[in-house]
Amino acid sequence: MIAPFTPAGHFRPGALFLAPMVALSHRALRELILEFGGLDLAYTEMASAGAVVSGSPYEDCYLDPGPEPGKVVYQLYATKGERMSEALAFLKNRPASGLPAAGAPPAGGPTVSGGGVFGADINFGCAAPHITKAGGGAAWMREPERAFELVRTARAVWDKPLSAKIRLGQAEDYGRLADFVKGLAEAGVDYVVVHPRFESQKFRRQGRWDIVARLAAEMGLPIVGNGDIRTWSDYRRRVEETRSAGIMIGREAARRPWIFALLRGKEAATDFSMEVDLRATAYRMLELIESRLIPEFRLTRARRFFSYFADNFGYAHYIKWKLVNAPDLDAMRRELEAYFEEMPGDRRRRYDE
Ligand SMILES: Cc1cc2nc3c(=O)[nH]c(=O)nc-3n(C[C@H](O)[C@H](O)[C@H](O)COP(=O)(O)O)c2cc1C
Repeated sequence: MIAPFTPAGHFRPGALFLAPMVALSHRALRELILEFGGLDLAYTEMASAGAVVSGSPYEDCYLDPGPEPGKVVYQLYATKGERMSEALAFLKNRPASGLPAAGAPPAGGPTVSGGGVFGADINFGCAAPHITKAGGGAAWMREPERAFELVRTARAVWDKPLSAKIRLGQAEDYGRLADFVKGLAEAGVDYVVVHPRFESQKFRRQGRWDIVARLAAEMGLPIVGNGDIRTWSDYRRRVEETRSAGIMIGREAARRPWIFALLRGKEAATDFSMEVDLRATAYRMLELIESRLIPEFRLTRARRFFSYFADNFGYAHYIKWKLVNAPDLDAMRRELEAYFEEMPGDRRRRYDE
């Protein structure tokens, strides 16, 4: 039996969500964000439903729900509809403890539906060619009936909140998009996350928040908006314009893991600002990556994190290049140390926007 969906405070204009991002939205980043003050809901990076079903060793790491499982949403993509429901049926029986750090064997313990997570999300938005060519991600939006069938079968097995993350489709056609969202709702999703770009659009042009606002006003189910939120003024403007059920932030969360705390602080008092110890934050992230992620993931995850985080530094391009080319995490530490020796003024920075 499907539990009735209760938004329970997670959905309100301005609720803060972490976006699913491959190699970025992992447990170490969530812990770092939590140390700055946390957020409302955090999506995992996408995991392949097929790989979950076949027991691939890595999917457990993509879907590690720690440190606060109750605020985590698993994101899954599928190229075949039946894999989605099989994966959700499998995840439903995950132990409450989820995955222990650093690849130790699962701890067992009582089964709590889905490892204690808040919910699951179906990826209908990923536009990476290797995913869409195989029929996954945004390719589902080209065949709405098949997408609805996938949602119905997923809904039949998953008794927690279920969302779909979508783009705008292949070309501008509001009627088609609205029908797609309605069809998803009828098939059983509880809310929809909209990254308002067309399938072939990269990040160069701004996302279409006007379309998010219209969907939020007209669809009758919670719509979460996502895309290009970098500052307090971006955030405030989008909350006011859309009154959507939440705001999801992706890249800025890697660039400034304190962004959620900064936004919350400014909501309470607009003259709020934060002084951040960039050196300590960089070291802490390396420590979290080493202690929370399996060895095979550490270097790629650290490189991807620093490719955003380095934007905080005065000589961003220089240090970014050094960090993303460092052969291991200790070499990254040495690069950071050398940089801060040269540039002691970059150790701490105040952020008010
Ligand atoms: C490195 C990277 C990886 C991403 N991986 C995923 C993913 O696994 N699933 C997904 O739905 N979207 C993914 N996205 C898209 C983001 O979730 C988000 O929709 C997009 O970055 C726009 O939000 P932003 O402007 O706040 O970054 C990814 C984006 C980036 C930059």
